[in-house]
Amino acid sequence: MSTIGIRGTFFDFVDDPWKHLGKEQEAARFHQDGLLVVTDGIIREFGAYDTLAAAHPGIAITHIKDRIIVPGFIDGHIHLPQTRVLGAYGEQLLPWLQMSIYPEEIKYKDRNYAREGVKRFLDALLAAGTTTCQAFTSSSPVATEELFEEAGRRNMRVISGLTGIDRNAPADFIDTPENFYRDSKRLIAQYHNKGRNLYAITPRFAFGASPDLLKACQRLKQEHPDCWVNTHISENPAECRGVLIEHPDCQDYLGVYEKFGLVGPKFSGGHGVYLTNSEFRRMSKSGAAVVFCPCSNLFLGSGLFRLGRATDPEHRVKMSFGTDMGGGNRFSMLNVLDDAYKVGMCNNTMLDGSIDPVRMDVAEAERNKLSPYRGFWSVTLGGAEGLYIDDKLGNFQPGKEADFVALDVNAGPLAQAWHQSLIAEDGRPHTVEQAANLLFSVMMVGDDRCVDETWVMGKRLYKKN
Ligand code: GUN
Ligand code: ZN
Repeated sequence: MSTIGIRGTFFDFVDDPWKHLGKEQEAARFHQDGLLVVTDGIIREFGAYDTLAAAHPGIAITHIKDRIIVPGFIDGHIHLPQTRVLGAYGEQLLPWLQMSIYPEEIKYKDRNYAREGVKRFLDALLAAGTTTCQAFTSSSPVATEELFEEAGRRNMRVISGLTGIDRNAPADFIDTPENFYRDSKRLIAQYHNKGRNLYAITPRFAFGASPDLLKACQRLKQEHPDCWVNTHISENPAECRGVLIEHPDCQDYLGVYEKFGLVGPKFSGGHGVYLTNSEFRRMSKSGAAVVFCPCSNLFLGSGLFRLGRATDPEHRVKMSFGTDMGGGNRFSMLNVLDDAYKVGMCNNTMLDGSIDPVRMDVAEAERNKLSPYRGFWSVTLGGAEGLYIDDKLGNFQPGKEADFVALDVNAGPLAQAWHQSLIAEDGRPHTVEQAANLLFSVMMVGDDRCVDETWVMGKRLYKKN
């Protein structure tokens, strides 16, 4: 057994800030001088340095100075084989998939190509401060195998699975439901719960799935109820129309996944831009999650996710945030927070009543405002809750895995330190409110230059040059 200590300034969450209207700081926890005691990668104790250090004489302590240490970011929706084509010009979802995405993802049949792609993908995630992701792969098992193997070597927690598609894509890219079922079975046996790997049964989206492919997913979920289900939902208007043509017996997009018994705890649907209140309500009741991917929704012009609607207490859905890289044009969850904030503000142009007094809704408008508490909770503990991994990570609670990021709140653009000194004179937080305000500037003014170190299971895997 090896026990180490990490000393520094810590900020995490013990509750959901949307439940603490007007006093969100109650959901956060701040130690200006804290100590994290880690044994074999697992947090044993967490608290004020003065009290804890005395109880652990002689442990090796790494002092991370002048940083705010937060739990590792969780990307709830990302695409491994799009690493090389992010930022493709000019198209919305369906033509973008055909022109830029499927031709690149086909290349991941080749093991060497996939291996290089996986390394670059995980390196980019760590440099962005992301320690856990739920990732789509490709239609050939090679990409899934390589991702699980490399994540295992790095000891990173990853949720992933063979990405099934049997319609509306090039003939050499699609799979058959029979092959998909067979390969998924083998991959589940080989990788699910091996090390930190978790398996997600992954129909790519209802527009690319025949009833037989969805039946194969249903059978896999029945046979492996502890596996996750990961897919896309209601992202783009043309896609939504196409889904109802492909599945004419379903009343709405969610209805397709419901029909095949996939919606419930551990189900996540990326995007959900066009979800109706009825769909939010059904997802909420079942324990399913939506993954908000604002970088992608803006980059692909998909639309504005109704954050204030999804968080309505009447039908509050579980929610993670994701980059959706390469639909999203960044790897960084800090960029996701930046764009999420702006999506919320755009929604409020309608809700403030200035365009249409009938649609004025002050309460929903308030829920659209992504404070630093709501934002950082969503990419840590809240994201973990959405993915049903909050028993394992998401904050610094003893028993959880020691994945964390040391943020340099003064890094980023040249004037960042000067900017931050307006919030805290010496550039360091002394109170939870100051920490939150500095973090808001990281998400809105800084960028991933603020990610100084990334640690996984108590080991430093990334240090900024
Ligand atoms: N829907 C189906 N596949 C994809 C994908 O690769 N990216 C996005 N954004 N949406 C999808
Ligand atoms: Zn996606």
